[in-house]
Parts: sequence; C-alpha cells; structure tokens
Amino acid sequence: MTATSRGPRVARDRPVPRAASLRWAALGAVVALVVLVVVLLVGGGAPQPVPDGLPDPGPVTGWGLPVARLLAELAAMASVGLLLTAALLLPSPRDALADLPARAVALAARAATVWLLAVVAEAVLTVSEILGAPPGQVLDPTLLRSFLGQTSDGRALLVQAVLVVVVCVLARTATTTRAVALGCVVALVALVPPALTGHAASTGSHELAVASLAVHVLAASVWVGGLAGLAWAAAQGSDTLRHAVPRYSTVAGWCFVAVAVSGVVNAGVRLQGFTPLGTSAYGGLVLAKVAALTALGAFGWHHRRRGVPDVVARAGTASGRRETARLFFTVAAAELVVMAATVGLAVGLSRTPTPPGAALARSPAAELLGFPMPGPPSLRSLLLGWVPDGFALTFLVVAALLYARGIRSVRRRGDAWPWGRVVSWYAALVVFAWATIGGLGLYSHVMFSAHMVAHMLLSMVVPIGLVLGAPVTLAMRALPGPRVRGELGPRQLLLAVLHSRPFRVVTHPLLVLALFVASLYALYFTPLFPTLMHSHLGHVAMEFHFVAVGCLFFFVLVGIDPTPWRIPPIARIGLLFAAMPFHAFFSIAIMSGDRVLAPAYFRALHRPFSTDLLGDQHLGGGIGWAMGELPILLVLGAVFVQWARSDQREADRFDRVADRAQRRTSLGGAGDAPAGSDPLADYNAYLASLAAHDARDAGARDGGTPR
Ligand code: HEM
Repeated sequence: MTATSRGPRVARDRPVPRAASLRWAALGAVVALVVLVVVLLVGGGAPQPVPDGLPDPGPVTGWGLPVARLLAELAAMASVGLLLTAALLLPSPRDALADLPARAVALAARAATVWLLAVVAEAVLTVSEILGAPPGQVLDPTLLRSFLGQTSDGRALLVQAVLVVVVCVLARTATTTRAVALGCVVALVALVPPALTGHAASTGSHELAVASLAVHVLAASVWVGGLAGLAWAAAQGSDTLRHAVPRYSTVAGWCFVAVAVSGVVNAGVRLQGFTPLGTSAYGGLVLAKVAALTALGAFGWHHRRRGVPDVVARAGTASGRRETARLFFTVAAAELVVMAATVGLAVGLSRTPTPPGAALARSPAAELLGFPMPGPPSLRSLLLGWVPDGFALTFLVVAALLYARGIRSVRRRGDAWPWGRVVSWYAALVVFAWATIGGLGLYSHVMFSAHMVAHMLLSMVVPIGLVLGAPVTLAMRALPGPRVRGELGPRQLLLAVLHSRPFRVVTHPLLVLALFVASLYALYFTPLFPTLMHSHLGHVAMEFHFVAVGCLFFFVLVGIDPTPWRIPPIARIGLLFAAMPFHAFFSIAIMSGDRVLAPAYFRALHRPFSTDLLGDQHLGGGIGWAMGELPILLVLGAVFVQWARSDQREADRFDRVADRAQRRTSLGGAGDAPAGSDPLADYNAYLASLAAHDARDAGARDGGTPR
C-alpha cells in the first residue's frame, strides 16, 4: 500500500533538497564499498589465485560474496531503522499511521526487497564458493535445495530469506503502528540466523562467539538504522524531531554500549589474548573498529551536548524547526558515512582469516562441548566453575539492567517498588546464572545428574522468582507513554500485547499445564534430547525453553502481574496438584529406566570420572523427584499468602461498603463503588489514570497534528 492511499499527504517543504540527500546516500555506499575492498586486500580475504587443476569459483564469487553481504547488511539496517522510526521514533497521533511514518514504512518495504535480493545472491555465491565453481554452473535447483536444506549456512540464509519476505509483506500492507512494530520485531529476528553460523560458529567458546555477534549486529543495526531513519525524516522536514531525537538518543546510548561490549567480547574470543592485536591482520582490523567506535562516540557526544537540546529548544517556530532539521541532517549524514565505512570494515573483517592458534585445541570432548572437559565435580568446581554461554550471559545482563532501570524510573516518579519483588527477581537471576554459566551449568553439559538439577532449577525455581518480581507491572509503570495525544507509545504497545488474543491463548491455565507436563515427556522420551544435547544452540534452546514454560506455569499460579485469566486460589492449588503426579511419574521412569538417554552423546565425551552412565542417570531421576517438592512448598506458601491477602481485601471491602451504606442511610445520599474492591479493577483504574496523565502531558507538549 502506498502512502497516498493511507491519507492526505502533507505538502513537501524539505529543508534538505532531494539531490543533496541522494548525494550523501551515494557517498555512504561508495565509502563502505571502498573500505571493504581495501580491507579484503589488506586482510587476506580477497580472492587468491588458485593453482592450476584446483577448483576455482572465480572473481565474480570472490568479490561478489562480500559485496552481497555488505548490501544485505546495509539494506537490513535501513529496513530496521525505517520501521523503528515509523513505529517508535516519530509520533503518530493515533494507531493509523500518519503521513511521514507511512512514507517511512513504504521506503522500508523497498529496503527489505533489496535485502531479500542480496540474501538470494549470497546463497548462490556461497554455493559457488563451496563447490569451487563459477556461479553460472551452480544455478541448479537440486544443488541449491541441498545447500539450503542440509548445511547450516544454507539453513541460516533460508530462514533469513523467509523472515525478510514476511518483513516485505508486513511493510507493504501495514496501516497501523502495531503492524509496523511487529514488522520491526520480525526484521530484528531476521538479523540473527547468519550470526549463528559462519565465522563465529567455528571458534571455541562457541556460545559466547555467536551470542556476542548476534547482540553486536542487532545493536549496530538499531543504532545505524535508527539514525538513518531520523536523517531521512529530517530531510523530509518532519516537525516532530523534538519528540523523535531525544528518544533515539536514549536508544542510541544503549546500543553504543552494547556494540562496544559485544564487539570486544567477540574479538576476545577470536584473538584469545592481546598479542594478536599487534601481530595479525585480524587484530589490526579490530583496532580499526575500536577507532571507528571512538569516532562515532564523539558524534554521539556532540548530539547529546548540542544536537538534542537544539532540536528541542528551537522547535517553537517554523524557521527554527527548519534550521535545526537541516543542521541535524548534516551532522547525522556525516556520522552515517563513518558508520557505513565501519560496516564495510566489519564485513571485510568477517572474511579475514583469524590468527593461527585462536582455534580451540581439539579433543573429542572439546569438539562436542566447545570447551575442555572439566575435572571431576567438587564443591569448589561446582561453586566457582563457569562456562562461557553468551546467550545466558546476555539474558542475565539485560534482565538485571532493565529491572534496575525500571525501578529507577518508578522511584524517580515518587512511587515505591516493594523490596520483596526486587529480592525475588535478583535471587532468580543468581540461580539462573549458576544453572547456566556457573559450575552447575558447566557440569550440566557433561553429566545427566547435573543436567537434571539444572533443569529443575530452571523450570521450577527460577520462574517462581521471576514472576514474583512482577516485571510486567514494573514495565507498565516505567515505560514511556504517548508523547502526543493518542500516540501508541511503548507502554501502549505492551498493553496491546497483554490484551491480544495470542497472549490470552498462551496463558490459558489448561494450556500452560499441558505445556509444563508435556515438555518433560516430549523432551526426554523422544530423540529430541540427544539431538539438542549434540548441538550448542540446542542446549541453549533447552535452557530457555525450561525457563519460558516454567514462567508461563508459575505466572498463572502465583504471578503478581495482571493476567487475562483470573482463577481463584483453590483452583491454582488444584492446578499445581494436577502437575505433581506427572512430574513424580517422570522422575520414577528416569530412576528405574534401563536405557541410557542420549547414549551416543555421553559416550562420545569419554568422561574420565563418574563413568557409570546409567547410575548417573538414575541419580538424576532421584534428584528430580526430590527437587519437585521444593517449588511445591514455595508455591503453596505464595498462594496462601495471596489468598490471605485477598481475603483481607475482601473483608476491607465489606467494611467499606457497610460504612458507606450506613453513611448513605444517615445522609440519604448515594456513594460510588469503593476503590480497592477488585484488584483487576484497581489495576485498570491505575492504567486509566496513567493514560489520563499521559494525555494531559501530551496535550501540554503538543497541540498540533504531527507529521
Ligand atoms: C569496539 C568496537 C568494535 C569491535 C571490537 C568490533 C568487533 C567485531 C568483530 C570481532 C566482529 C566479527 C567479525 C567476524 O565475523 O570475524 C564484528 C562484526 C560486525 N561488526 Fe563490529 N566491532 C566494533 C564496532 C562496530 C561498530 C561501531 C559497528 C557499526 C556501526 C560494527 C558493526 C559490525 C557488523 C555489522 C558486524 C557483522 C559483519 C558480518 O558478519 O557481516 N562493529 N565486529
């Protein structure tokens, strides 16, 4: 759908001529390309002459593959950034997109089409490189199909292509902010698959390498793409930059830190020390990226000190808005050229051979695990051991920081946030850390018994702590509301998710019970368990699955956050007791089984200690059975406390109603329904008061219709 069909267009009054914007865009593309070529030549990633008789894909593939990758990166960043600009940065006065956001989405659809074509080109050229044949000779459906279906690189490109098609469709058909926000989320997910394969996947510390690269690419894309989106909006003469620029500045600050930390971690994994920084081409290019980040930091500093205050302060007059939009565009365009050069450098780096010695010293166990086999478990190794799992580490850092940030926002507003919730949240994160990246997490890769303890903690202890931390309530209070009257801000988007049908379906008490129970049997009594144990990502997926399903189950049982299903305490206890026999039966089946689960995996490890695999498995079943009691006690305690509190509230309600009735009788007047009579009604009243507050603020800030 085009912008014109979504509503009347605002007359174009561009502070930056179209030709000037196009010149900057072309400059960025050329600089990125030149930097890429130079890096390939200097770093050793350029196509090398192949001795006669050996297969040679030819120069089209040798040069074309990194160029296609560069095009894909830049187009992906543009798509993400334009969708983000339309959904979150530029305010729309209602759910239907305003003129400028609608045009940003139309442009995002074009960028996504370029992204898709670049991914297709990458797929063909990768087959050509693998087979050592020119691209013309590999355009065979059977070859392409087996590449896409049977290799990890091929599968990653296929998943990415499918997701990019979804982005194209959403961007072409979206007419509301919600649909654009969904498109933006899908575009972000589409960035991840290639990060999980390729260079990063072939190093030791596999999870750390791939997770840090995924975070790096996501943060860089939001940062670069968001700025590109804003620069485009400034060039169009948007009069809402005073809303968009401060919000982008906050997002960019987080992205800067995430890019720096993940980049350094990723480089650390590849280089395994400081020496190769000065002695290898790869190390030298990493230093060039640090220099680029420093330069971009200087731009960011300028924006914060001068740009953002200027845009806000001079928004009162049309000439002031025009002038600041022009200035903002010029600084942002220069910054984008440096960013484009850095992306060219990044793609060149990803084709540069890592220094020798960075590869992990291989043993059968290290091949499977991505780290050396630990010694026999001891109190010390269980407490102090650790495993570099980048996904768990990322989750921990993000969960800890966001919660702390949420509390700060709530307290700044003068509201209190109960300490019990804080303790519960952070205690759950400590247990999560131990079961994933700590000593227990380390042994969960090599011993079934340790795996079972980790499983029980992740599915039954961590989730209880997390849901008692009330993260959704905290987010609802801390997230910003609308900046102009009627806007769907981050808080309204979260609310839309909570009120959506899919959320209602996945939190249905019977479904969560079925998921909680079926997960156990479907995982351990099918070939799923050996398959997942064999794969690094499979292990990570298992850990997150345990936590996610546990969170759903305990959210329904003891959650503090509002739920679409209000079930009385007695029914919650019933739900808990319904799950218990299945759990006990599962543990007994493991304890008494005479078949080792995932035998090929555990035998291939050649574990030098605790060599009785079946004995270890029986121990795991026993631990699982015993540990099943712990959450039951926790949950019963929490439900009884909540029950007692709701009884107390009910008693208070009757007292108030009786008081009011008595007053009415004595005064002969009518009273309102009492506040606090129903927790959900209270919560809705609270949200309504927030909305009224936001609307007042927005009205005071901006009376006009934004574009
Ligand atoms: C402290 C600064 C930085 C360091 C240490 C760093 C390090 C790295 C490393 C080690 C990789 C993996 C390359 C490989 O696969 O071998 C990478 C990839 C990447 N970096 Fe950075 N980086 C930094 C800053 C940046 C910045 C500022 C940007 C963008 C504005 C950026 C964008 C990217 C992108 C897009 C990739 C993925 C390239 C690809 O796989 O095609 N990086 N970076």
